[in-house]
This record gives sequence, C-alpha cells and structure tokens, in this order.
Amino acid sequence: MADLAFTLNGQQQTLSIDEGTPLLWVLRDHLAMTGTKFGCGMGLCGACTVHLDGSPIRSCSYPAQYVSGRSITTIEGLAESDDALHPVQQAWLEMNVPQCGYCQSGQIMSAVALLANNSAPTDADIDSAMAGNICRCGTYPRIRKAIHRAAE
Ligand code: FES
Repeated sequence: MADLAFTLNGQQQTLSIDEGTPLLWVLRDHLAMTGTKFGCGMGLCGACTVHLDGSPIRSCSYPAQYVSGRSITTIEGLAESDDALHPVQQAWLEMNVPQCGYCQSGQIMSAVALLANNSAPTDADIDSAMAGNICRCGTYPRIRKAIHRAAE
C-alpha cells in the first residue's frame, strides 16, 4: 500500500492505494470522479485525460503515487462554480460538439490545456494538440469550431 496526498479540483485528498494503481482508478473508484472516462486503458485514446499541475496526462496509464504533493484537475473541477461553465465547456455547448459524448471530457481537458498555452490556435495547432484524443463519432470539425469559439 502507498499513502497518497494530493489536491483534486482544489481540495486536499488523502487515501491509501495499492502501489501502481493508475490515477484513473483512484479518480473513478475511490473518489467518485466519474466524468473522466476509461477508453483504451493504454494511453492511446485520450478519454481519460486530466490535468497534472495544468498539463494534460493520460490518467489510465499514470501511476497515482506520482501525483503525491501535486495538483489534479478533472472535468468536474474546470468551472469556477457549480452554476457556471468553463468557457471551453460553454463553447462545446454552443457548437453542439458531442454525439455519443463518451470521449468529450477528455477532449475538453486537452482543449483547455491547448488554449492555456496558445490563446489563438490555428486549425493546424488544434489538430496537432488534439491528435491524441480519439472520437469514434468523428466530431473533429465541431471540436475545431468550439476551440476557435472559446478562443474568441
Ligand atoms: Fe486512457 Fe485511452 S483510456 S488513453
């Protein structure tokens, strides 16, 4: 077992986990943060994307013990309050991005990280930054539009 203490969406968390437990399991099964999804489990699809100290990581293949002392943000922690949306979430709604929706929390987390580093991304910037987030419904054109809308 390993003791884990980290900040999740601005709140301190402490728990004991089996060494090597992926962060995604801790988020979903121990802390009920089910907005982050399991897709491939191998770091290939991006459905499980969360932010570690502001940078996107694949939580399915990131051992939770390495987040000790650090800060994790999930889709649940993006908005500043329960009755507000993050500007990227708002743009997603306005552009009607989701189809089945399964990959979208990961898509949004990657988009937020992109815009934090590049406030006016080109289509090529978007395609490059979002290449690791797979959408089986093919919502890529709407994702691109929503990122441009959020950047306005
Ligand atoms: Fe983590 Fe696919 S579930 S990258």
